[in-house]
Amino acid sequence: MDVREAMLKRRSIREFNDKPLPDESIRELLQSAMAAPSAHNRQPWEFYVVKNRPLQERLRRVSRYSNMNSSLIIIVAGNQQRFMAPPASDFWVQDCSAAVENLLLSATSLGIASCWCGLFPSSGASGKVREILGLEGHIIPMALIHLGYSDLVAAPRTQYDEARVHLIGETGQTPE
Ligand SMILES: Cc1cc2nc3c(=O)[nH]c(=O)nc-3n(C[C@H](O)[C@H](O)[C@H](O)COP(=O)(O)O)c2cc1C
Repeated sequence: MDVREAMLKRRSIREFNDKPLPDESIRELLQSAMAAPSAHNRQPWEFYVVKNRPLQERLRRVSRYSNMNSSLIIIVAGNQQRFMAPPASDFWVQDCSAAVENLLLSATSLGIASCWCGLFPSSGASGKVREILGLEGHIIPMALIHLGYSDLVAAPRTQYDEARVHLIGETGQTPE
């Protein structure tokens, strides 16, 4: 599957079956995630791969929007010790988001269903995940990713909307 096909086929899936993900697939997902671009190539991310069922049960309850029965949860977190100096430190969210999207596209290409659940900047949800996993204070959980196989199939689609495209200086004139 090429990247464009994966982009259109990637949809948030919120119901999973019990089939576990093979370790080779999990490694491929993480390799894809870590291939992402990052500001100054800081790679300020950490990935917590949670296979343990009781921990998954606790994690999925950190917010009412994250309660899904996936077979695997990966927490993507920013590592403050790898951030750039302020104000460029804020780039970490973009860096980690690029990694998340890479991971999701890779999952789609492997026939793995996924759902990105946001944690940061909700300090409640992010803090609960830190507590459940026993993470140190410089680790900021930013996304909870549900992964697994699903019997559901969502229609591929683009959300292209021409009204959101703004052509600047098409006539050769400098915009005011
Ligand atoms: C930053 C972010 C946070 C999200 N948080 C949640 C969430 O907590 N629960 C959920 O079910 N979906 C969550 N989503 C998924 C969106 O609801 C979904 O991407 C959107 O509705 C578009 O649907 P699609 O993913 O099928 O294209 C999140 C997506 C992003 C990018």
